[in-house]
Amino acid sequence: MNIFTVFAWIICSFNLIYTLHVNLGVLHHEEVDELNVNIINRRDRFYQRLGKSPRIKFLQRGISDILSANHTLCELAAEGIIGLIAPSYPPVAPILESICIKLEIPYIEYMRRTVSADQEMTINFFPDDDLLAEGYAAIVKSMKWNSFTVLYESSESLVKLRNVLQLNATKDNPIILRQIRPGDDYRAIFKKVRKHTENTIVIDCSVECTRNMLMQAKEIGLLELNFEFFLANLDAHIIDFTSLNTSSNITTISLLNTSNPNLHHQVKDWNDEREHQIHEGQVTVEQAILHDATTFFIKRFYELREADKTTRFEREPLVCDEDKTLSIGYRMFSYMVSKTEEPGGRALTAPIQFNKFGNRINFTLYGIEIIRSEKEIISSWDPSMKEEAKYYRTSTEQVEAAVENLRHVLVKVGSKEGKPYLTRTENDTFEGYAYDLIEAIAKQMNFTFEFIRYNETGVYDKETKRWNGLIGDLVERKIHLGICDLTITENRRSAVDFSLPFMNLGISILHRKPNVEVDANKFAFMDPFDVEVWIFTVTLYVIISSVLYVICRFAPGDWENPHPCDPHPEELENIWDLKNCFWLTLGSIMTQGCDILPKGISSRMGASMWWFFSLIMTSSYTANLAAFLTKERMGSTIESAEDLLKQTKIKYGTVLNGATMSFFKNSNFSTYARLWTNMEQSKDSVFEKSNADGVKRVLAAKEQRFAFFMESSSIEYEIEKNCNLKSVGGRLDSKGYGIAMPMNAGYRRAIDQLILNLQESGKLADMKNYWWKEKIEKDPSCEERGDTEDSASSELALANVGGVFIVLSVGVALAFVLALFEFLWNVQQVAVEEHMTYTEALMVELKFAVKVWITKKKAKPVLSASSGNESDTRSLAQKMMTSAGSFINLDVFERLSTGRNN
Ligand SMILES: *[C@@H]1O[C@H](CO)[C@@H](O)[C@H](O)[C@H]1NC(C)=O
Ligand SMILES: *[C@@H]1O[C@H](CO)[C@@H](O)[C@H](O)[C@H]1NC(C)=O
Repeated sequence: MNIFTVFAWIICSFNLIYTLHVNLGVLHHEEVDELNVNIINRRDRFYQRLGKSPRIKFLQRGISDILSANHTLCELAAEGIIGLIAPSYPPVAPILESICIKLEIPYIEYMRRTVSADQEMTINFFPDDDLLAEGYAAIVKSMKWNSFTVLYESSESLVKLRNVLQLNATKDNPIILRQIRPGDDYRAIFKKVRKHTENTIVIDCSVECTRNMLMQAKEIGLLELNFEFFLANLDAHIIDFTSLNTSSNITTISLLNTSNPNLHHQVKDWNDEREHQIHEGQVTVEQAILHDATTFFIKRFYELREADKTTRFEREPLVCDEDKTLSIGYRMFSYMVSKTEEPGGRALTAPIQFNKFGNRINFTLYGIEIIRSEKEIISSWDPSMKEEAKYYRTSTEQVEAAVENLRHVLVKVGSKEGKPYLTRTENDTFEGYAYDLIEAIAKQMNFTFEFIRYNETGVYDKETKRWNGLIGDLVERKIHLGICDLTITENRRSAVDFSLPFMNLGISILHRKPNVEVDANKFAFMDPFDVEVWIFTVTLYVIISSVLYVICRFAPGDWENPHPCDPHPEELENIWDLKNCFWLTLGSIMTQGCDILPKGISSRMGASMWWFFSLIMTSSYTANLAAFLTKERMGSTIESAEDLLKQTKIKYGTVLNGATMSFFKNSNFSTYARLWTNMEQSKDSVFEKSNADGVKRVLAAKEQRFAFFMESSSIEYEIEKNCNLKSVGGRLDSKGYGIAMPMNAGYRRAIDQLILNLQESGKLADMKNYWWKEKIEKDPSCEERGDTEDSASSELALANVGGVFIVLSVGVALAFVLALFEFLWNVQQVAVEEHMTYTEALMVELKFAVKVWITKKKAKPVLSASSGNESDTRSLAQKMMTSAGSFINLDVFERLSTGRNN
């Protein structure tokens, strides 16, 4: 194994003023990049400015282990070197270092060393490890990440990222570490990462491995908008991002300022000597530091020589085993560590500054954002900044950058179909409130979008700890925005971000208006009393009338003199036969009174008790009837959620697993908690799959027996659509619909801003008005009902009082039939009395009855001409008698005339 084989060059034999040749030793790994050789072996303007072109001696010797490293260095020392530049591979570096210390040759490293050197003679141009770790943390902190997943190759990464791992490591947002092996299939890991709400991934492995991982991440669809990567390898910028064609936000860290004009010039110089041209983006940090180290060393050497003309700077061959040391070695070392290199000079990784042990304590770290293969420095840090890196973008610029990013992709907007938010039109496009809203936003932000339809907004599965539906895809960042009637809840907020609410609402109760046509009862007038009461009353009526009859027969006061003029009548008369008793009681209970009244004390007493009973009964009836009719008109008396609790007739429910359901489920407020218990314990499920099903159930329920808890905006819409529905009570809570987006989406603030603008300009209200009022399809049954519905609620329709008319008609009809029977009966009597045939009598009576202008009737019917005279005389006499006064007993007269006739 030749891994530690090192090429050695002795180069830079400086043709000094005193024609002395001074060599700088450089050891290289065998498989070193050609550019590293170019960097050392150079003929650029720097040397020309010094007025000399260096004579380069090229020395190549292979070393395969510690021993040969030892050997190679001793050979170099024997040729006379004033410094050694060597890589810091573990087994060889300590040997080389110890020899250099012994010989007092400045030993220059340009690679990372995890343990800071505290030996004189060693100068490491690679930043001090502690400071670098601090810098990493500061840069990551400036990106404001809450948590992230770290994918790393070797445990060395953990040392490098030790300060990063201490950032914000809270219980809720743990930093997840996953070790990967190079050449692994990383896809499974990425799939897991995708399911995480966090979208930030730190990758720390070799450049090749980083590239592979990004390729596989792309296959899994992770190199998309809303994913953020942090590539911790300082050389990650050399990856060719154009071929990855990514729209995700990749940030990397570098010691190299890629926009430094010096780098450009330097690369040009190197390219002059190369066959394969390179560009600035391909220079690794190691190469830049190697360049800086060589330049810095030579420059300091010249400075020292210029300053001190007395000392002869000669080539001093040294022998490893002897005690002789390099005479200017120590001076070189202390001069170098005391000097600094400010930015703006030749150094590519400026500022350069050392402590007295030769550890580099000043440098600048850059946070570089790579989006769509464009690189931009967004933050920087140097050790004087301690924990806070400088972030170049203002928050507005940050939002702008995110929006700009959005413009380069086809934005996927997830939505749920449902009126009035989103409906599919005939030509397969969409329309609705949600569409209008997103269109307004897209127009302002200038992006294009497509709709992805979902059936479910998504619920959280406690077992798998995953969301499904729309929210699930937002969590996995498969879509960029979610817009529908999506309530902002704490639970959802823990998985996705929400914009400001574009609509405010609260849970309210949807109920049905009483359906007058269907519910009205023609015999509503019977309702005030129970059937039993009616039966009792009728029975009582019969009994009391009979009892009154008996009382009247007993009561002496009711036996009256039929002829008031005769003070000593032979007979007394009682008008209270059964007929009159029934008439009196009926008249009084109908509150009409009666033309005849009892006169006896006991009968009066009985009658008054009946009146008392009637008074109470009729007043109760009237009062109750009024109440009943009102109730009939107004329907149920549910006015609030509390009213629902107080009754058991009306059932109530919500959408299954929706936000409304969780509101009741999680409520501590006793009313809502009890409502929830009732809902849960209801025998038939009161939960419906969707609002539409709930509305159907409310409409279908008989006698308003079902109420549905829904969000007020949907209730408003349904009421607008169907006039049979109504909203009951106020809002139980207060919340809003927001546009959902993946956690930490950079464009959230821009959308918030737009929603505020739309709100202030009244556009949101217009949109709502349009979709809720103008574009609404009214239920056909409502158009028939029209405006009468309002008046119907204040007046009694025929339907309510029809029964009274029926009673009247039937009663009068009965009376008429009765009259007919009476008439026929009377005809029969007359026929018998007058010795006529029945038909003759009927004809006479009918003839008379139709002659409505005759208002007086003869007591006896007259058979036309035949018996005319006789009856005329009799009727004349009768007339006279009648006019003589009422006191003449007509009965006597009647008897007399009858007798005579006989
Ligand atoms: C590092 O260099 C910069 C630029 O020259 C300087 O502002 C800063 O103070 C230096 N930091 C330290 C720790 O010396
Ligand atoms: C990329 O991510 C970084 C860190 O989170 C952020 O500062 C930067 O603004 C993002 N860029 C865009 C275009 O979103």
